[in-house]
Amino acid sequence: MRLAILTLLALATAESRAADKPVSFINDVAPVLKENCLACHDAKKRNGKYDMTTFEKLLLGGVNGEAIVPGKPEESDFHDLIVTAEERRMPPRDKGEAVPADKAKVVAEWIRQGAKLDAGLDPKADLVRELRLRWVPPTPPAAYKYPAIVNALAFTPDGKGLVVGGHHELTVWSVPEGVLTKRVRTRAERAYALAFLPGGALAVAGGRPGQEGDVRLYDLNAPGQAVAGVTMLDGVGDPKVMLKQLLDADDSVLCLAVSPDGKTLAAGGCDRAVRLWDVSAGPLAATLTQTVENHADWVLGVSLSADGKSLATAARDKTAKVWDLKAKESVVTYPEHQNTVYAVAFHPDGTQVYSAGGDAQLRLWKLGGEGKGVKSLGGHGGEVFRVALHPTKPVAATASADKTVRLWDTAKMAALQTLTGPSDYVYAVAFSADGAWVAAGGYGGEVSLWKQPGDAKAFKTFSATPGLAVAAK
Ligand code: HEC
Repeated sequence: MRLAILTLLALATAESRAADKPVSFINDVAPVLKENCLACHDAKKRNGKYDMTTFEKLLLGGVNGEAIVPGKPEESDFHDLIVTAEERRMPPRDKGEAVPADKAKVVAEWIRQGAKLDAGLDPKADLVRELRLRWVPPTPPAAYKYPAIVNALAFTPDGKGLVVGGHHELTVWSVPEGVLTKRVRTRAERAYALAFLPGGALAVAGGRPGQEGDVRLYDLNAPGQAVAGVTMLDGVGDPKVMLKQLLDADDSVLCLAVSPDGKTLAAGGCDRAVRLWDVSAGPLAATLTQTVENHADWVLGVSLSADGKSLATAARDKTAKVWDLKAKESVVTYPEHQNTVYAVAFHPDGTQVYSAGGDAQLRLWKLGGEGKGVKSLGGHGGEVFRVALHPTKPVAATASADKTVRLWDTAKMAALQTLTGPSDYVYAVAFSADGAWVAAGGYGGEVSLWKQPGDAKAFKTFSATPGLAVAAK
C-alpha cells in the first residue's frame, strides 16, 4: 500500500514537471501537425483555406481567421476541433482517426504556454523541411533480429563485391562467397536503386516512405573503420564517403539509371517527376539539367537511350512513356500493360523498349507507330518488378513475385531459363559487368547468385542482413 502511494506521488510530480517543461513547437507540435493535419492543410489543398505549412501561416488561420489564441487552448479552434465531442471535428470524423489524447495534450500545453515558436526558427520556414533537417537517422545494429528487405543491388565494377540496399545502410558482400565485407551507414531507410558511375562513385536513390527521399553519390572505397573484419563507413556524416546529395525530396525516390555513355543520371519516384543530372565532370560537379513530369502516379522505372536523346519511364499509372529530352516532352505512351509498370529498359538500338509490370509480362515495343507492341513474353507467375539487360549479350533478366528470376533471349524474344533459389518475392536483379554472374534479392532479405551461362539453381543463397543467417531449407 505504502509503495503504491509513493509510486502515485512520484507519478504526480513527474506529470507536473512535464507540464512545466516548455513545449517546443518544432519538436513536439509540428510532428503532430504533420501526422494528422497536413494531408488536408498543405499549400496545395488548404482545406478551409487553412495552410499550415509554416508557423506564420499556422497563426494566420483559415476562412474564419485565427484558430490559435495564445494562452487559451479552450478558445482556440485549432485545439478545440481536435478534442471536441461534436460532429465537426478535425480531422473530419469520416476522414481519419482522432488525434491521440497525449498529442492533443501537448498541443493544449503549447497554446497555454503562449503558442511560441522555438528561438532561432524562421516563422516562414517550411515545417516539413525543418522536421526533416532535425531528423537523425538511427545507427544500424551490429546484428539484426529480422531480415532487411532487399530492394536494390549492384555488383561493384570489379565484380568482386555485391552492394545491397539494407535498412539505413548499404552492405557489401564478397562474390561468390557471400561474406560481409563493408557496411555503409546511410540516412535513407531504404535504397530503391543503385548504379555505379564510370569513375566508380555509387549513385543511390532511396528514402523513408512518406517522409523523405534522396539521391546521393557515395565513394565506397573511402577509408573506414575495421570492426571484426568488416569495414564500417559513415555515409551520413563523412564527406569522403557521402560525396554529394543530388536531391532532397518529400517522399521516396524509387528508380535510377545511368546512360550507357555514363554522362547522364536519371532518377524518378513518388513526386512523379524524373530529374536528370549531368555527371560527366565527376560526382562533385554533378548538376541538375532537366526535370520532366507527365505521369499521373509514382515513377517506378527509368532508362536512358544509348544516344542520350531519349528517356523511358515506367509508372504506377499503368503506362510506360518515352521522352524526347531535347523537346522536353513525352512522345510515346505505351498503354498495353493495363497494370502497374515497374520496369523499363531501352533496347540497345534505341528504337525499342522493354517494359514489365503487374501483368507478369515482359513486353517489347517500338518508339515508332505510337508505341506499337512487338512481342509480349509470359511465363512469370506473378508481378515483374525489375528488368536487367546483360552487358554484352542479347539477354534480359526479370525479377518476379513468383520467387524466380527468368532469363530471356532478346534477339529471338524467347524464354531462355528460369533461375530458382529465392524463397520470397524477388525485387531486384543485376548482372555483373562481365556478365559472368546474376544476382537477385527480395522480400526475405536473401540474395542469390547464379553463375552464367549455366546455373538454373542458385550457386549460392545467403542472408544479406548483417548478423542474420538464412533460414535452413
Ligand atoms: C481529411 C482532411 C482534413 C484533415 C486531415 C484535417 N482537416 Fe482541418 N479542415 C478540413 C476541411 C474540409 C475544413 C473546412 C471545413 C470545416 O471548417 O469544417 C477544415 C477546416 C479546419 C479548421 C477551420 C479553419 C477555418 O478558419 O474555418 C481548422 C482550425 C482545422 N481544420 C484544423 C485542423 C487540424 C488542427 C487538423 C489536424 C489535427 C486538421 N484540421 C486536419 C479537412 C481536414
